[in-house]
Amino acid sequence: MSEGKFITVEGTEGVGKSTNIAFIQKEIEKRGIELVVTREPGGTPLSEEIREILLQKRNESVDATAELLLVFAARAQHLNTVILPALAAGKWVLCDRFTDATYAYQGGGRGLSLETIEQLEILVQKGRHPDITLLLDIDVETGLRRASARAELDRFESEHLEFFERVRNAYKQRVASRPDKFIVVDAAQTLVEVQKTIENALKPFLDRQG
Ligand SMILES: Nc1ncnc2c1ncn2[C@@H]1O[C@H](COP(=O)(O)OP(=O)(O)OP(=O)(O)O)[C@@H](O)[C@H]1O
Ligand SMILES: [Mg+2]
Repeated sequence: MSEGKFITVEGTEGVGKSTNIAFIQKEIEKRGIELVVTREPGGTPLSEEIREILLQKRNESVDATAELLLVFAARAQHLNTVILPALAAGKWVLCDRFTDATYAYQGGGRGLSLETIEQLEILVQKGRHPDITLLLDIDVETGLRRASARAELDRFESEHLEFFERVRNAYKQRVASRPDKFIVVDAAQTLVEVQKTIENALKPFLDRQG
């Protein structure tokens, strides 16, 4: 049996990741492919608990390295108990955020060095990376407006605009360093336009596998 494909969706707050994951799920499943939809941080009971710890607003300031280690602890559990077994069984995995988000948030946002993140990436992932990543890109104010219209802001969403500008720029640097791994979509378009763009961009990838 051939291994499944590993697809991740990235972008800053409120850019439309969850909305479009539901759309991509339909595109994949209508081709008869078995799919696991999951998210980071999270995706297992332990990793979801770590997610809550990460997102909770608290009086104590959170050390950036502590935050980074929590993210990768959640990822190790998720990768080894959910993602890798699914891929090995021939299923596809569609994940809301993955390590590109760590480079963006803990690297760009918090200012941790890319080398430090890379060391943990090697330790935890052992060379395993997504096959393709969809980056939804939007100006941070529009994204935050969409996110805040939806629910109360969490610890990350409560950061200031410059933080999200750094996150967005770090995502763009990830794309620049590996353009063949990314599909970048302008998420400021209407939802219909965004989904048309995603459909067209993913079609060659999906048809190649189908
Ligand atoms: N292209 C679009 N145009 C207008 N509104 C949109 C568009 N895409 C998504 N939205 C709306 O923006 C809000 C945020 O979308 P969604 O929850 O999918 O974003 P997200 O990236 O998953 O956010 P988060 O980072 O908080 O998980 C939702 O209310 C959604 O309906
Ligand atoms: Mg979401």
